[in-house]
Amino acid sequence: MEAEKAKKQWTVQELVGWTTGFFERKGLVKPRLSSELLLAEALKLDRTLLYTRWNAPVETAPLEAFRAYIQRYVEGEPIEYILGYRWFMTYRLEVNRDVLIPRVETEELIEWVAGRENGRSRRFLDLCTGSGAIGIALARAIPEATIVASDISEMALDVAQRNARTHQVYERITFYRSDFLDGLDNLIGPIEVVVCNPPYVGENDRHKVNPATLSHEPWLALFGGPDGLDFYRKTVENAPRLQGKRVYFEFGFDQKERLETLFSSVGTVAFKKDMYGQWRFLSIDIHS
Ligand SMILES: C[S@@+](CC[C@H](N)C(=O)[O-])C[C@H]1O[C@@H](n2cnc3c(N)ncnc32)[C@H](O)[C@@H]1O
Repeated sequence: MEAEKAKKQWTVQELVGWTTGFFERKGLVKPRLSSELLLAEALKLDRTLLYTRWNAPVETAPLEAFRAYIQRYVEGEPIEYILGYRWFMTYRLEVNRDVLIPRVETEELIEWVAGRENGRSRRFLDLCTGSGAIGIALARAIPEATIVASDISEMALDVAQRNARTHQVYERITFYRSDFLDGLDNLIGPIEVVVCNPPYVGENDRHKVNPATLSHEPWLALFGGPDGLDFYRKTVENAPRLQGKRVYFEFGFDQKERLETLFSSVGTVAFKKDMYGQWRFLSIDIHS
């Protein structure tokens, strides 16, 4: 019986059906979609093309790859790291464990910034670029924009550069390794707008972080000191170098009041809610 099972030629339909049920029993969300995405990846196909092969048998090599993906997925690895990509707005971005998986709320930050800055500003700094999500989306949204994208992680910058090439904005983005604003002196002068999604989880709140995030995403991308506010404080310390510039930040859902207090001494602050009605974004026009 076991030998017969091993010999069995699974079709695409059977594999999707079996895996969907397996994921359902494990309590995983969107079991059908996940099984289709993982099988499509194993077959190196676009997911929509699975249906053109619905009754075709799956060869040994993709079947083995699919089994390995299933194993990783049920062990809690984010599907984006297994697939090696994440859709961000309309851009398929490469992601790996050196970069944070870009979040949907960051898409709202881009929409806000692009809506306010398109036709108004041309020179942007994407500070803490990670996968390059912000810089690339801004470069695509604002055709005349030139961008400096920086991160402390060389490995993240490699990913960001590959993503910029894929989305044909590499020529308009200068990538630079830096510890936040330190070392950007030669590049910061002409910048009009800084956009930053810094690490903002408080180390004291580690127990509140989703376990899959904690086990798989880079801690360098998550934690911003004991209360999560280190990078905002560094911005205030650097205010003299940012005079006359507008700075946009994403921040944690419970940080608005503290950030209002922090930033009101250095500029004019405006806040924005996300689609769930939480305060998640701010802009500061730094006083000259
Ligand atoms: C929350 S992630 C944001 C990534 C990306 N911008 C996004 O929105 O998806 C924060 C990024 O900050 C980077 N980072 C952490 N400490 C840094 C530092 N001292 N200087 C510059 N970048 C830093 C991390 O490597 C990570 O890529």
